[in-house]
Amino acid sequence: MSRILELSRDGQLMSRIVMGGWEHDLHPLLPWGHRVIVITDRSISTRYRRLINQYEHILIGKGERIKTLETVAQVHRELIKRGADRQTFLLGIGGGIVTDITGFVASTFMRGVRFGFVSTTLLGQVDASVGGKNGVNLDGYKNMIGCFNQPEFVLCDIGMLRTLTTRQFRAGMAELIKTGLIGNRVLFEMVEALRFEELQRDPLLMADLVLMAVKIKAEIVERDERESGERRKLNLGHTVAHAIEKCSRVMLHGEAVAVGCVVMARLSAQMGLLPQREAERIEALFVRMGFDLNMPVEMDRIVAALRKDKKSAGDQIRIVLPTAIGRCEVRSVMFDWLDEQLRKVIE
Ligand SMILES: NC(=O)c1ccc[n+]([C@@H]2O[C@H](COP(=O)([O-])OP(=O)(O)OC[C@H]3O[C@@H](n4cnc5c(N)ncnc54)[C@H](O)[C@@H]3O)[C@@H](O)[C@H]2O)c1
Ligand SMILES: [Zn+2]
Repeated sequence: MSRILELSRDGQLMSRIVMGGWEHDLHPLLPWGHRVIVITDRSISTRYRRLINQYEHILIGKGERIKTLETVAQVHRELIKRGADRQTFLLGIGGGIVTDITGFVASTFMRGVRFGFVSTTLLGQVDASVGGKNGVNLDGYKNMIGCFNQPEFVLCDIGMLRTLTTRQFRAGMAELIKTGLIGNRVLFEMVEALRFEELQRDPLLMADLVLMAVKIKAEIVERDERESGERRKLNLGHTVAHAIEKCSRVMLHGEAVAVGCVVMARLSAQMGLLPQREAERIEALFVRMGFDLNMPVEMDRIVAALRKDKKSAGDQIRIVLPTAIGRCEVRSVMFDWLDEQLRKVIE
């Protein structure tokens, strides 16, 4: 049975998040009588042929490197070539890369067409596909170009997580744990009580955990859609993660987020904001889930990338610090101070 969460703005429905299966739940979500064009990538189109072949589709490449304006323009051209118009509905089927691009393409094609997502990765379901942030990278800087625009729906099909590689599944777990750290201690403790293999094998359990994470994100987005305050908390671990991603391609986004969350927990403990024992618990959970927490690049390069972060303004930068498991706060700090502190907590 599907479960539905609704995101509203001033009492008006913005977006629907549906936990269900594509076979039963996708068709009723699509607008009746409209042309639907799917945007997806080659591995999803191969693995889920029966789903993708039901629709006209455009394939994009894979990986962070293709999340660019060039790819957006290629899809725009393809839409024009196929005679798509303002009534066309765009459906992104895939992980965060596909949904970030689809949302941006849909928001800009002919000044905006309707769109929705089938989210197929754990990271996408708990984070990327929910909340209406769409965009691409520029010259390696993450998500520099983009917009806020809510998809009409996000269908999270837990069954599709079965075909993810272990590495991709683990990367998604980082955002799930991050969400617990920000806003729900119970979610964090539920993950803490389980082994990675149990989580990977049990779709019913995962459906509950994903729903909990989506609820937290949806509530925050409802209160602060444009990220002028509370939504910044969702960036826990991301300042460092984006710097890692800028400097090296060895880590997936979620893997870099795991490192970023642990660094922020250590920093918060060092500042006396988070009890040392809680910081150790946070680190222990990421280790137990199998994350490599070693910084993959030298600190000097990380610091140089941090200076160009979207969250920095002049010599200040905004960081998110856990103050307890399930609670965190946003602070603006001097960049030079952060540089010095980070060098103390990163071996
Ligand atoms: N917009 C937001 O609010 C937001 C939030 C968090 C992350 N993001 C973005 O999300 C992106 C990462 O997303 P991701 O981790 O989903 O990566 P991804 O989209 O690259 O997907 C990972 C890989 O898994 C494959 N795949 C997808 N679904 C599959 C399935 N069900 N079975 C087998 N293989 C499958 C894809 O083909 C791809 O190779 C980053 O670019 C990040 O910046 C955006
Ligand atoms: Zn993220």
